[in-house]
Amino acid sequence: MRRPGEAKALLLAVLAVIFAGLSFQYISRALARPWSSEEGAQPRAASTETLLHGSELYVANCAVCHGYDGSGARYGPTLHQLQAGDPVLTLVIESGVRREMPGFSKKLDNAQIQTLISYLRGWNK
Ligand code: HEC
Repeated sequence: MRRPGEAKALLLAVLAVIFAGLSFQYISRALARPWSSEEGAQPRAASTETLLHGSELYVANCAVCHGYDGSGARYGPTLHQLQAGDPVLTLVIESGVRREMPGFSKKLDNAQIQTLISYLRGWNK
């Protein structure tokens, strides 16, 4: 006989493994090819630590709307085709988009937002 909590725990475990797998996939891709900034100035490469931290921030704050893999979900568009440079993305994340997306300036500090953007860049190379 299965205990009542067992199915739920199993589901959570399976989800955790899937997210870990997805993160690893993006991180290894991101590490394989460093991107350059919109201005084409200095190419930046994010450390594994930054990307891991970014994926945590992303899952906790953004995935509910933009999807765990960033390809868009019920409430938010895909983040795989970003045109904007870092300053604009910073502004969007800090201030949000009126009636569409909440601002995160009270929840995330600038370092966390930059870490998140590094993580988003992994989808936009
Ligand atoms: C409540 C749902 C919601 C949450 C939570 C949310 N977003 Fe959004 N986001 C949206 C919607 C909806 C849009 C589209 C707004 C518009 O009409 O331009 C958007 C737009 C964006 C854009 C602009 C996309 C583009 O193509 O330029 C970025 C970047 C973005 N979100 C990043 C994030 C990040 C990073 C987080 C987590 C810190 C986050 N969002 C959390 C709903 C959300």
